[in-house]
Amino acid sequence: MTVMTREAAPGALASPICTGLEGRYRTLLEGPGADSAQWLAEQLERADQLPDELPVSPTALMQWSARKSAQVAKAFAAYLEARQQGAPRRYFATRSQAIYFIQQVAPTKAVDGAWLYGTLRHWQDPRYHGLIRTYLEELGDGDPRCNHVLVYQRLLSHLGCLEPVPLADERYLQGAIQLALGYNADEFLPEVIGYNLGYEQPPLHLLITTHELAELGIDAHYFRLHITIDNAASGHAQKSVHALWQLCPQIESDVFYRRVIRGFRLNDLGIDTPTLIAEFDLEAELVAALERKRGFGRYMHSDHCRLQGQTINQWLATPGRMPDFLQALQAQGWVRRHEDPTTSRFWKIIDGPTAAMFGIFSPYEMQLWHDWIAGDWQAPPARRLRPGSWEDSVSHLSAGDAPPPSDNVDELIEAMAGNRHALPQGLRATQAYTQLTGLAYGRPC
Ligand SMILES: [Fe+2]
Ligand SMILES: [Fe+2]
Repeated sequence: MTVMTREAAPGALASPICTGLEGRYRTLLEGPGADSAQWLAEQLERADQLPDELPVSPTALMQWSARKSAQVAKAFAAYLEARQQGAPRRYFATRSQAIYFIQQVAPTKAVDGAWLYGTLRHWQDPRYHGLIRTYLEELGDGDPRCNHVLVYQRLLSHLGCLEPVPLADERYLQGAIQLALGYNADEFLPEVIGYNLGYEQPPLHLLITTHELAELGIDAHYFRLHITIDNAASGHAQKSVHALWQLCPQIESDVFYRRVIRGFRLNDLGIDTPTLIAEFDLEAELVAALERKRGFGRYMHSDHCRLQGQTINQWLATPGRMPDFLQALQAQGWVRRHEDPTTSRFWKIIDGPTAAMFGIFSPYEMQLWHDWIAGDWQAPPARRLRPGSWEDSVSHLSAGDAPPPSDNVDELIEAMAGNRHALPQGLRATQAYTQLTGLAYGRPC
């Protein structure tokens, strides 16, 4: 059992003792630890093997960013044109593939913005204000409706995916890098700036993902938010270039810029988004979900439940039999694949409040069943779910009734680390920090 030394923040819920990258990630959620700088240096060495696309001189960065943004816009226009001509979705063949993706990147999204945490203490130095404003915007300035970690948390909740699913260790890599950068920002300032430069340029896959999630009836607010707030004209992408120009020293600027490039490359460690999405295998995911449930269900069925002569308890008794179980369901007519799933007998016993097995499967598992049964069958557009209005669902949110925060800036900063900023105390601390430091954005009047 994991002993939590702090109140659990989103994505930091108690879990078995972890090793590897997941262990590193969970340790960093608690604080910097003794060796995070050393670990970060090792990741930078790994990233040195990767190519990069930055211009040779930092003076060309604004043109580079504008050019990149124009290329993305052009490629997205071509994608939309192809879709209008009847091309299928590029990323998400099914709704379950989209939910799979949302879960796979959850550890990274649970610490959105964390690489900039260490800039907060430099609030008296105007050269840091662009980076600090970027961090504060990631935190929604302490407004839970706009805090990116909470926006993602609500998305997971809405999809019934709050329960963590087992993820490959590598899924924790980028989140761990972000936390380590945030805790070691003074020692690794050029690398933080370089990482920020790479992370804040809206990529093509973000636009396509946002478009296809909305099409599948999934609330794409988190993703849409990053198209707007990271824009290259005035958003985080532009601030990332200004931050470099302001913080790059006059002396040995080439050494500083070389380190910026190293930090930029850190973004490319691990799997890229399109490859991650393409790794989804619907039947394998369904089989894995059933295998995880198998142990709980093996004594739960009565003996008159039989499939091909065996009781369900017998089917569930030994590992590795779930692919055969799926075949048996089809052979016995419980499932008719490539047809409307609601017409399958099996679907009728798992779906709906009066179904015999209602609640056995999580919303994600239900989606896997649905999409696996549906196969080539296409639901008429009117049957697809539409997300509710985002504004309606969050209009009542506030930072809660956390105790009044300290007026000591260092204590406020402590509460704004990692993903603790998404707790009521962290939200109140963020609001107080923006007021105390004078870094709050005024509203037009
Ligand atoms: Fe964000
Ligand atoms: Fe951003």
